[in-house]
Amino acid sequence: MKIDKMLSKLGIEKINEGASTGTKWLKAGGEIIESHSPVDGKKIASVTTVTRKTYDDVVAKSHAAFAEWRTWPAPKRGEVVRQVGEALRKNKEALGTLVSYEMGKSLQEGLGEVQEMIDICDFAVGMSRQLYGLTMHSERPRHRIYEQYHPYGVVGIISAFNFPVAVWAWNSALAWICGDTCVWKPSEKTPLTAIACQNIISEVFKENNVPEGVCSIVVGNRDCGEWMSHDTRIPLVSATGSTRMGKAVGIAVAERLGRSLLELGGNNAIIVTENADLHIAMTAAIFGAVGTAGQRCTTTRRLIIHESIYDAFKKKIVNAYKQLSIGDPLDQTNHVGPLIDQDAVTAYTNAIVEVKKAGGKEVVKGGILTGKGYESGCYVKPCVFEADNSWPIVQHETFAPILYIMKYSTLDEAIAMQNGVPQGLSSSIMTLNMREAEAFLSAAGSDCGIANVNIGTSGAEIGGAFGGEKETGGGRESGSDAWKAYMRRQTNTINYSDQLPLAQGIKFNI
Ligand code: UN1
Repeated sequence: MKIDKMLSKLGIEKINEGASTGTKWLKAGGEIIESHSPVDGKKIASVTTVTRKTYDDVVAKSHAAFAEWRTWPAPKRGEVVRQVGEALRKNKEALGTLVSYEMGKSLQEGLGEVQEMIDICDFAVGMSRQLYGLTMHSERPRHRIYEQYHPYGVVGIISAFNFPVAVWAWNSALAWICGDTCVWKPSEKTPLTAIACQNIISEVFKENNVPEGVCSIVVGNRDCGEWMSHDTRIPLVSATGSTRMGKAVGIAVAERLGRSLLELGGNNAIIVTENADLHIAMTAAIFGAVGTAGQRCTTTRRLIIHESIYDAFKKKIVNAYKQLSIGDPLDQTNHVGPLIDQDAVTAYTNAIVEVKKAGGKEVVKGGILTGKGYESGCYVKPCVFEADNSWPIVQHETFAPILYIMKYSTLDEAIAMQNGVPQGLSSSIMTLNMREAEAFLSAAGSDCGIANVNIGTSGAEIGGAFGGEKETGGGRESGSDAWKAYMRRQTNTINYSDQLPLAQGIKFNI
């Protein structure tokens, strides 16, 4: 799809307001940010960021909308989300192309990201009839106890550039069926994808007379994230991004005893045992390491390889890296696109300097690409280093296609290495041996929120709960019972007897 045609289909203007309450765009009033494509370095369009005043107006509207939205029956809210899914289906190609062009991931992955949005809408529609609470048997005669889940309030969603639209959809589709209203602060690196989403769904909201404020956007920088974190009108802040950002959000929200849902950095490893299917292991490792140019929180950053197959597997990896074509992500013959911006390129080059200084051996050489097709300056070579798990640079998440490989001799040692980092998002083991697989998945195995067997670390389906432990933040989004984070639980005890027996057999006579 041609870029101009795609932008006009999605309603992207030359200058866009970065504030909306659903169907209406507000004067944002703040500084203007320009969105440049990392694909070709060209300016795509500009967005006006919000001032504190506009931010306050948007949140006030969202807060007011909650009073009505929470009274809609959940399946009716689900029906709106079903139509949102339909609207996304109709715009899949255009939105997927914009994701690819503004963020730099391959078109396949851009389309895949929109597919994740559609999938979570479908999931949320079904879920809207399944917001189950438990019922309990009371210890008192003619009493009944049950739990119910009520809508929670305004949900603040802070999302990252790498999944500019899917992570918002994971949160908002569930929040909406739960009866919450949303205020989305998209990454300032990818604001246009957010504006496009708002345009796509505004028709659905209008047609269904959804109150203005259920689906809001505030484009802003770090300050805006801080306002959200301290804002007592927002009982839940869901934040995706770096551990540094997540700590700041988590602390600010905790200070006011609010709820936060954090999905932060990963430092994901694949253990390749001597019993692995090496072809599967190799494909999974390479997709995991270079897909999205190493900018997924689930990217494979470490390969922990059994010593008996280390040399052979290393050779396989090196050969496969030679086949990678790097270039325009909209050209489907390329495997690897650009990094998001110059800061990311600097982080990549700094990490390479550091791993070399630590003694890392460069097995596949890195570097910045120049010349025709690489004018944006954001294209880098995926690279591989032999490294030690304990080095500070290996312990750190660098959002770039740098893969560290290392050797192990016993499975216990491999699991200890896999767990021996501050982050705990995704992990996997490549083995056809049941004992190894089960040990890896056991209580003494991987300490991550995601642990896979014969599948790489990235590319999770929306049906499972997504998130991780330790510095990854502990939040769970997307499938399973992640919806519970968006609701408040209430325990109800009902006495239908003509007595007032007290719990625990306490006697109180007056
Ligand atoms: C992220 O990188 O923030 O598992 C999310 C995956 C995707 C989501 C990644 N489904 O790779």
